[in-house]
Amino acid sequence: MKADVDTAVYRARRARLAAGMKSGVAIVPNAPERTRNRDSRYPYRFDSYFYYLTGFREPEAVLVIVAGAEPRSILFCRDRDPDREIWDGFRYGPDAARGAFGMDEAHAVERLDALMPDLIANRDALYCRIGADAAWDARVMGWVNEVRDRVRSGVTAPNEVNDVHALLDEMRLIKGPEEVALMRRAAVISAGAHQRAMRAARPGRAEFEIEAELLHEFRRRGAQAPAYTPIVASGEHACVLHYVQNDGVLKAGELLLIDAGCEVDGYASDLTRTFPVDGKFTAIQRDLYELVLGAQAAAIAQVMPGNAWDAPHRAAVRTLARGFIDLKLLTGSVDEVIETQAYRKFYMHRTGHWLGLDVHDAGDYKRGGEWRALEPGMVLTVEPGCYIRSGDGVPEQFAGHGVRIEDDVLVTEAGNEVLTRDAPKAIAEIEAIMSVRDA
Ligand code: GLY
Ligand code: MN
Ligand code: MN
Repeated sequence: MKADVDTAVYRARRARLAAGMKSGVAIVPNAPERTRNRDSRYPYRFDSYFYYLTGFREPEAVLVIVAGAEPRSILFCRDRDPDREIWDGFRYGPDAARGAFGMDEAHAVERLDALMPDLIANRDALYCRIGADAAWDARVMGWVNEVRDRVRSGVTAPNEVNDVHALLDEMRLIKGPEEVALMRRAAVISAGAHQRAMRAARPGRAEFEIEAELLHEFRRRGAQAPAYTPIVASGEHACVLHYVQNDGVLKAGELLLIDAGCEVDGYASDLTRTFPVDGKFTAIQRDLYELVLGAQAAAIAQVMPGNAWDAPHRAAVRTLARGFIDLKLLTGSVDEVIETQAYRKFYMHRTGHWLGLDVHDAGDYKRGGEWRALEPGMVLTVEPGCYIRSGDGVPEQFAGHGVRIEDDVLVTEAGNEVLTRDAPKAIAEIEAIMSVRDA
C-alpha cells in the first residue's frame, strides 16, 4: 500500500544523523521477512531504526547516508515486478520511492553489492549496526575488503567502524511532535481496549476471550498490531510476569491482570490494568490494589524534567516497602526493607522503561555511570506491581494475587502528561464501568 509520508520529518532526521557522523557512511538495513513455518511468514514488521530514518515500510531495503558538506541519502529497494505485485501487492520501485521518500538517489536492491564498495571508498568511517546479524556484518566487511583490494590504485578503505545505533538511540529518545501524536493515538486506542476488556470480563469467560476483545478493539480503531504479546492473566497467573498462554478461565473472587498495548504506525503503547473478575474488589484486593496505585502516583509525581531516571522507581519502592510492612508481609523498617532488598520478594522488576518505536525503546538509562536526567520529549512507562504467590510463606488470604498498574508518561516542560489516562484505574471508576457490563 502507498503511504503518504511527510518527507520533511525524515529528511531532517537523516540530516541530523549525517551531522552527527561528520564524515563517513551510514548503512542501515530494513528488517528481513521471517518465516513462521514452512512457507508461512510472520506479519512483516520493519526495523525501527530504518523506519525512523525513512518512513519506508517495504522489506529488502537498505538506507545509505553519505555524510559531508552536502550529505546524500540513497535508498536501495525492490524493483517494480508486475508478476510479484499480483501476489503481494504494490511496491514503489526505486524511481517512485526516490520522490515519495525524499531521497537523493534510489537503486534496485540487487545492485547493493555492486555499488557499495564505491560508496565507501575514500571514506574514513562506517556507521552500521554491529553484531546483530553475523551474515550482515560479513556482507559489510566484504565491501570493505573489496575496497582494500584496490588500495594500490590509490583508494583508501574505511579504517573505523562505529555503531550507528549509538547516534540514533539518542535521537529516538527525545520524541518530536509527530511522534508524540502517534503515541497519543496508540495510547487512546489501548485505553479503549482496556475499557472494553473490563466490560467483557466475568466469571466463566476464558482469558483468550478477553484477549480477543483487546485485539478486536486495536484493529477496529486502526492500530496495525499489538505492540507485544498481550498478557491476560487471572488469579495466580498474574504472578508469572511474562504469562502469555492466556488459556485459563476467569473465576469469581480473582483479579485479572491485563498488560496489552497496540502499535500505531510503528509507535507502541504499553498499558496494564488489574481489576476483579466479578467487578467488585474484595477487602484484600482493595488493600493490595490501593498500595500499588499509591506507589504509581508517587512514581508519576517524580516524572519531570531534571529528575533522575530512577527517581520514579525509588518513589515506588519506598511506597511499596511501607505497604508491605503495614500489611505484615515484611518486617523491619522501611529503610531496612529497601537496603536489604527484601521488598523484591513481592516487587522484583523495575518501575519502567523508555517507550517509542520499540516497547522497550532505544536510549541509555545512565550517562557516565549516573542515572540520566529526564528531559521534555522522553516517554517512559510507570508500572509498579506486587506479586504474591502461594508458597511465598504469607498468610493464605494474600496468596495468588498479582497487581500491576502501568501507564505511558510523556515528560513535558511543566512536568508530565499521562498518555494512557483514559484507562480507568481508580477503584470507583473500575467498579462503575464494570457495573454496566455487556450482556
Ligand atoms: N509489556 C511489556 C512491559 O510492560 O514491559
Ligand atoms: Mn512496560
Ligand atoms: Mn506492559
